[in-house]
This record gives sequence, structure tokens and C-alpha cells, in this order.
Amino acid sequence: MTTQENNLSRRDFLKLGIGALSALAMLEMGGVSLFFMQPRSLAGEFGGVVNAGPVDSFPLGSVVEFPDGRFFLIHAPDGGFLAVYSRCTHLGCTISWEADKNQFFCPCHASSFDTNGDVQNPPAPRALDLFAITIEDSQVLVDTGSITQRDRFTNDQLTYA
Ligand code: FES
Repeated sequence: MTTQENNLSRRDFLKLGIGALSALAMLEMGGVSLFFMQPRSLAGEFGGVVNAGPVDSFPLGSVVEFPDGRFFLIHAPDGGFLAVYSRCTHLGCTISWEADKNQFFCPCHASSFDTNGDVQNPPAPRALDLFAITIEDSQVLVDTGSITQRDRFTNDQLTYA
């Protein structure tokens, strides 16, 4: 084998190595791209349907926060359910539930809302937004991808088991 042949085969070897590495890099990039292009399920988290739990786990007149779903589940005294978005309708701050005052409160500009989400104290311009509720197999399912704006509470907004 001559020196020239050795150089050529070394060059060929390098070309093969670079080619193989390039192919591997392309495969990895393709795989990563495909992974991120997969439709992502939002079930159980904000943006998707959250199973809040069994109907009978919520006492009448209770308000339970679901921080990951960004809502409060209200079980009205007459048995109806409401899921209110935990976002103030003024400028979007996160509200909290004040059980001792029986109200939702926004720390940003002191708006407050009653147990149905109606404005008690402005500047919030309208009631808290609602998420759609369905009840299946005695489970309360809240669709956080389906937001309804409303001016004020009306009885037809309640969902019953
Ligand atoms: S953002 Fe809630 S009162 Fe202003």
C-alpha cells in the first residue's frame, strides 16, 4: 500500500465518519422535531378537562380551589355547580377565596366577588368567568379550555348532577 493510498483511505474514512455523524445529527433533530410536533394532551391541567372529583365529595355551599386548573369549584346550596376562573375580570390578577368573608378577593385593586362570582366591589367590570362543567359517572369534569364571560350570575349557569 502506497502513502497516497493510505492518505486516500484516511480521507475516505474521515468523510465516512463525518457523513455518519451528520446522519446521526439529522436523525436526532428529526426525532426531537417529531416529539414536539405531537399533539399534546392537556387532560388534567389548565387548558384541558380537569376531573375535580366525585360529586358527593363537595359539601353544599363549599368552595374548593384547583390551583393547577386555575379555577374554584363552587357547590351552591341548591346542589348546582359553578367553576369560576381564578382570574380577576379587571386586569387579570389571581383572586383568592376568603372563607371568613365568604367572598373572592383580588389583591391588585381590591375587587371582591360573592359566592356566585358576582362583583361585590369594583373596579372589576363583570362577574368571574366560567368554565364549562359536565358530570359523568358522578365525576365533576371542568373544561378549562372552554371559558364563558358573563355580566352577572344567573341560575341557568349552574350545572346539576
Ligand atoms: S386586577 Fe383585580 S381589581 Fe384590578
